[in-house]
Amino acid sequence: MSFTADRLVLFGATGDLAQRMLLPSLCALDHDGLLAPDLKIVGTARSDLDDGAFRNFAREALEKYLPANRRGGMADFLNRLTYQPLDATTLEGYEDLAARVGEPARGLCIFLSTAPSLFEPTIRGLQHAGLDGPNVRMCLEKPLGTDLETSREINDAVAAAFPEERIFRIDHYLGKETVQNLLALRFANILFEPLWNAAHIEHVQITVAETVGLEGRVAFYDDAGALRDMVQNHMLQLLALVAMEPPGSFDATAVRDEKVKVLRSLRPVAEGETVTGQYRAGAIQGEAVPGYDEELGKVSDTETFVAIKTHVDNWRWKGVPFYLRTGKRMPERVTEIVVQFRCIPHSIFEGKGAKVQANKLVIGIQPEENITLSLMAKVPGLDREGIRLRSVPLNIAMPHAFSGAVRRIAYERLLLDLLEGDQTLFVRRDEVEAQWEWIDAIRAGWTAQGLTPRTYTSGSWGPSAAIALAERDGVTWHE
Ligand code: BG6
Repeated sequence: MSFTADRLVLFGATGDLAQRMLLPSLCALDHDGLLAPDLKIVGTARSDLDDGAFRNFAREALEKYLPANRRGGMADFLNRLTYQPLDATTLEGYEDLAARVGEPARGLCIFLSTAPSLFEPTIRGLQHAGLDGPNVRMCLEKPLGTDLETSREINDAVAAAFPEERIFRIDHYLGKETVQNLLALRFANILFEPLWNAAHIEHVQITVAETVGLEGRVAFYDDAGALRDMVQNHMLQLLALVAMEPPGSFDATAVRDEKVKVLRSLRPVAEGETVTGQYRAGAIQGEAVPGYDEELGKVSDTETFVAIKTHVDNWRWKGVPFYLRTGKRMPERVTEIVVQFRCIPHSIFEGKGAKVQANKLVIGIQPEENITLSLMAKVPGLDREGIRLRSVPLNIAMPHAFSGAVRRIAYERLLLDLLEGDQTLFVRRDEVEAQWEWIDAIRAGWTAQGLTPRTYTSGSWGPSAAIALAERDGVTWHE
């Protein structure tokens, strides 16, 4: 049903995500006049706050996490906020919550940013209080389970109260402008699509490197690890956007139908095609940082780095390896996709001594939003001693191309789409389950092989075995 919601309930309203992302995003949208004038936001969590205390909490979060030039009208935004304390595990409080929310004029969105163990009791409570009607949308933040089975349990519990067309699963990478730009690059240009296949692409690399370590998320992270925290969701979504067929239109069904086909075509990862690592003490940009075990305070087998070689087993990608790697405490924060094209079939310059390198497209997602296409060009000169060619970058720096455009938080886009009911940038159940199926098989392989993470020094690009994983195929990770 199409409506712009006039009520939003945030579960986990005093949590880290609300503080760093959700409240700042909502305030920024309000600043730009993008929230419905009658939108009321009800925060709920266990803490026993009143409206005033929650507004103070929100003000502090905004002052900390939202740039001053996006905070205009903050007082009006804070006035939209109310708060209802709730123990999500008992039914009692939900009627008070419903009374707090009131009768929406058009519709209600419920955003669950809580531990997944609270999803089921929360859904029951919402049903009990009648907060599950046809004008209610349910938005779920990751992690959606820890494997296929637990993710199915969550999905079943949610599906018992909400049909799929009212369920919005967040993968915040899809809210990033540069990730959406992948679709524009591929499907709004004639140049790439005819070459975007096994005949012309030799391999693809996807890197998501972070400099941060545990960041205080000790319990969560140690139970998750890099594979489940980053690959299961963000990296597989990036891979799906790179590898999918052109959808018939830019709408939720068409786009997600194509992504899920890719996810289901992922080849199970063979033994020896993954490398895991765990960081030890080292230095990041000149600053000493402790090892994972020191931060955690105990020895652990959780991987903070993973590199994987996989294939998409379909016609388009026959024989093209996809190399994925992600890690904490890497030398720099960088998310990028590298598309390595094949060499030209015949070089007319060979007889003149010139070497031709294959073209490469590097799509920088963050922090630099750059698209660089390496092209061969002639080195200027009279060529008396032969022709010289050199690879030169054709560089599009997005911030320059669109100077003046606001740099938005990924959640701004996602919250707005949620309030307006557009599911295109949200993950459908079949996608999540295909992602888990592939991830579970990798983890089962690790268990069967007794694989434990190798160590790597903080500030390095992971264990040397990760370099070897690519180099065995004559591939070098792009750095
Ligand atoms: C989250 C992970 O989903 O994504 C974190 O749980 C990670 O561990 C974060 O740091 C990375 O997001 P971004 O937007 O900073 O790349």
